[in-house]
Amino acid sequence: MTDAALQFVDHDKVGRVASVDTSCVTIDVTNSILLTRIGIGQLIAIRGATEREYLIAMTERVTRSMREELPNLDDVGEGGAVLRTVPTDLMQAILIGTFRTIEGAKANTFKRGADSFPQIDRECFVIEGVNLQRFMGILGAGVSEDERLKLGKFVADRSADAIASGDKFFQRHAAVLGSTGSGKSWAVALILERAAKLKFPNIIVFDMHGEYAPLANRALGGFAQRFRIAGPGDLENPGEDVLFLPYWLLNRDEMLSMILDRSDQNAPNQASRFTLHVRTLKGERLDAEKQHTVKKTFTVDSPIPYSVNKLFKLLETDNTTKGVGKTGPVKGEWEDKLTRFLSRLEAKLEDRRYGFMFQPPTVAIAYGWLATQVLKLLGSDGGSGIKIVDFSEVPADVLPVVTGTLARLLYDVQFWMDSNTRTPVTLLCDEAHLYLPVRDDADAVQRQALGSFERIAKEGRKYGFSLLVVSQRPSDVSRTILSQCNNFLALRLTNETDQGVIKRLMPDSLAGLTSVLPLLDTGEALLLGDAVLLPTRIKLDIPKIPPDSATRDFWREWGTNQPQPAAILSAIERLRSQSRN
Ligand SMILES: Nc1ncnc2c1ncn2[C@@H]1O[C@H](COP(=O)(O)OP(=O)(O)OP(=O)(O)O)[C@@H](O)[C@H]1O
Ligand SMILES: [Mg+2]
Repeated sequence: MTDAALQFVDHDKVGRVASVDTSCVTIDVTNSILLTRIGIGQLIAIRGATEREYLIAMTERVTRSMREELPNLDDVGEGGAVLRTVPTDLMQAILIGTFRTIEGAKANTFKRGADSFPQIDRECFVIEGVNLQRFMGILGAGVSEDERLKLGKFVADRSADAIASGDKFFQRHAAVLGSTGSGKSWAVALILERAAKLKFPNIIVFDMHGEYAPLANRALGGFAQRFRIAGPGDLENPGEDVLFLPYWLLNRDEMLSMILDRSDQNAPNQASRFTLHVRTLKGERLDAEKQHTVKKTFTVDSPIPYSVNKLFKLLETDNTTKGVGKTGPVKGEWEDKLTRFLSRLEAKLEDRRYGFMFQPPTVAIAYGWLATQVLKLLGSDGGSGIKIVDFSEVPADVLPVVTGTLARLLYDVQFWMDSNTRTPVTLLCDEAHLYLPVRDDADAVQRQALGSFERIAKEGRKYGFSLLVVSQRPSDVSRTILSQCNNFLALRLTNETDQGVIKRLMPDSLAGLTSVLPLLDTGEALLLGDAVLLPTRIKLDIPKIPPDSATRDFWREWGTNQPQPAAILSAIERLRSQSRN
């Protein structure tokens, strides 16, 4: 038995099991000196049914209360019996797993879940020092070499690496949550850096503030590819890295959510004329391209290029054509019914902020254009499979459409791919509260985008398409999406409503752990989910290339740096031109 990883001596013994309530164990503490060293989250080993088995629990609550009891009869003096107060030390812990010294041919195994319940009066030991080191080592060793995702060190034992299963972490959606400045973006950069070491990683990062640009900077040792959604300044001579999302990629509902006013009494007429004309134009295009097979089964939602100007003319004709009556012209069937629709469409066509959608370059109307674009985003060639899409110049009100459409498009391509040639893809949604809002708060456009993401959250697993949601306001992020996440990297979270969200997402037995969330240091996180054997508090490693999100040293900078008038002037011009170039 000398090679058993957990070996306890007398002074590790903290007490005995006093009561058991499903996964919650109350321990009557007999070693009061040890008690003073125990904090929340301390690992406890409870002797199991056999010598070779320990149930592992994590402390959730440590209490000392005073109770009065009769004194020993021997001590009773002349004045009679006086009640004396004695402390009762109790510890509450939740069962999280089973450790076995020998299991079949294997030595020192740990598995999640308790196989049996602890029995009353069983001895309990604190796992610390060498025992803790060996135990953490076993946790890491449980993950096979080729699926290791090293995230940092355990806070409980800084000498042991915190290793998650990369497979499980990405498989069924994950979330990185924490207050502003808690270290989410750095954690993302770290995860991307680890993924970039693989041969063909495939992660598309939705970067809202352009803060991941350094990761694509070769001079800094960057590994990623970076794209930008076209801003108003990119419409004339778009560079190689500029992405357009032409209107013809939008399906009927996405398009209508932007230009149809459902409260208009003519809304049904407008929607039906729009649908009819778009279908006709797409059909004509397929004829012109000689795509006869596609023509047989395409729908109005199929991404087939058409001319939006032609569409506008057709609708205008509807709106102005008179009907023919017996005695001359009468009011046309659609006459004047599309006026408001047309003016809304026209406003979008002319707005340069919507240029990435309604003013695409001529190449983006070509039939083959979509393929080249999607190949850029879904390909992974020689390790450069990390793709950063910069949305920083996209106006806030269109953000949901752009993110939603892009996500749906990528997912649809993945969906239609042959299952035996399909490779997994993850969509990393930074600042998700901006475009994945709680459904009740969403407007028509947001709801449309939300629908796309919720669909991915619900059925993406089967198609090898997962989400990694990052947000500082979990309470503002769609519950449907968060509740589909299987792994959480929870950083410091100070707001109570936000903590509540995480608490509700946890199984009851683990909810108590979330009480440490407001106390976490920057870069410290609670890793919860099936990617790790134990919910653990870890100190995340620092990424080699930190994102451009530094917390500014206000006091020090006020002491040294003067604001530059030239910088302010150029910012004003950028504000006017809505472009950083
Ligand atoms: N692992 C870490 N170790 C040490 N310091 C860190 C770590 N991660 C982040 N920091 C510090 O915290 C600062 C803020 O981190 P980060 O930009 O990741 O915050 P954030 O959670 O993304 O905030 P926001 O929600 O505002 O985007 C960093 O500039 C860095 O100085
Ligand atoms: Mg951030």
